[in-house]
Amino acid sequence: KKVIFSGMQPSGVITLGNYLGALKNWTNLQDEYNCLYCIVDMHAITVRQDPATLRKNARNLLMQYIAAGLNPEKNVIYYQSHVSAHAELAWILNCYTYMGELSRMTQFKEKSSKHGENINAGLFTYPALMAADILLFQTDLVPVGADQKQHLELARDIATRFNGLYGDTFKVPEPYIGKVGARVMSLQEPTSKMSKSDEDANASIYLMDDPDAIMRKFKRAVTDSDACVRFDQETKPGISNLMSIYGAITGQTMEQIQSEFEGKGYGDFKMRVGEAVVEELRPLQARFKELSSDKTYIDSIIKKNAETANYLATKTLRKVQKKVGFPPVV
Ligand code: TYM
Repeated sequence: KKVIFSGMQPSGVITLGNYLGALKNWTNLQDEYNCLYCIVDMHAITVRQDPATLRKNARNLLMQYIAAGLNPEKNVIYYQSHVSAHAELAWILNCYTYMGELSRMTQFKEKSSKHGENINAGLFTYPALMAADILLFQTDLVPVGADQKQHLELARDIATRFNGLYGDTFKVPEPYIGKVGARVMSLQEPTSKMSKSDEDANASIYLMDDPDAIMRKFKRAVTDSDACVRFDQETKPGISNLMSIYGAITGQTMEQIQSEFEGKGYGDFKMRVGEAVVEELRPLQARFKELSSDKTYIDSIIKKNAETANYLATKTLRKVQKKVGFPPVV
């Protein structure tokens, strides 16, 4: 079976963007592939986090993975910080990654302008840790949203470079980016992506938002003065974003959505999109609630999966350590 690896940062409460761009696709892959889904808490501390909040977000994220439909018996769901091989391989890969490559990363440029008071070395070498995450497991496919494509290309370059120097060591991973939902935009500023860290709570739908909040946010979503449901990202970014969200959930094409709402006003359209999201999230939220009261079960998943991930990661790490010339433990 082919290997799938992906992860999310527990740096906040996850959004509809994270769900449609990544998590929803993950649940469709679990039968066909060997999948690992990580909670990347080591990446999260590249931006200041309150320790108690980080712990809580990480646990909630793990439960949301399961609530969304990832079976923890079939998928290796674990915390990055529980598997020290991530840090060890990241250090090695840092030594095969150029400053120039890292400086070109748009996420670094964006984050360093936003967190100007804390442009730390971890924020800069973030993509090398991400490459380590992926390469540790000889990953074939990495299901992510469109914003992670550049990081993935760098991971491929690092793998190819290392293989070129030392012979076949890493599988060179392919990105897996869905056709719909790969780039969900802010409801308030539809030219920028929906983000966990947006300060405007009306801009993002959070996975745990109650139905009223979801409906209210869709009602307030920014549109245009054209009053016609038509897909055109250039001139109608707000409507196009709502159409993409609706399509990602219902499976309809943009043409089908256009004809469904022909002659109808934006009010009706927004209501329908809101309802579709509420219905999509309802079972997930119910399952999350159940899981929240089962501490022992969640703890056992965390422990068991960390052991599996550790075992798998160590195999690649030992191979790499040997290739670069570290002496074996005697
Ligand atoms: P993160 O935590 O920012 O996002 C998690 C996943 O959600 C996707 N995503 C979106 N998709 C569509 N529309 C949006 N508005 C949107 N916002 C986020 C992201 O593309 C991602 O798939 N660096 C990664 C975490 C990571 C990782 C990895 C991913 C660390 N190591 C190894 C894959 C493999 C990140 O910050 O994701």
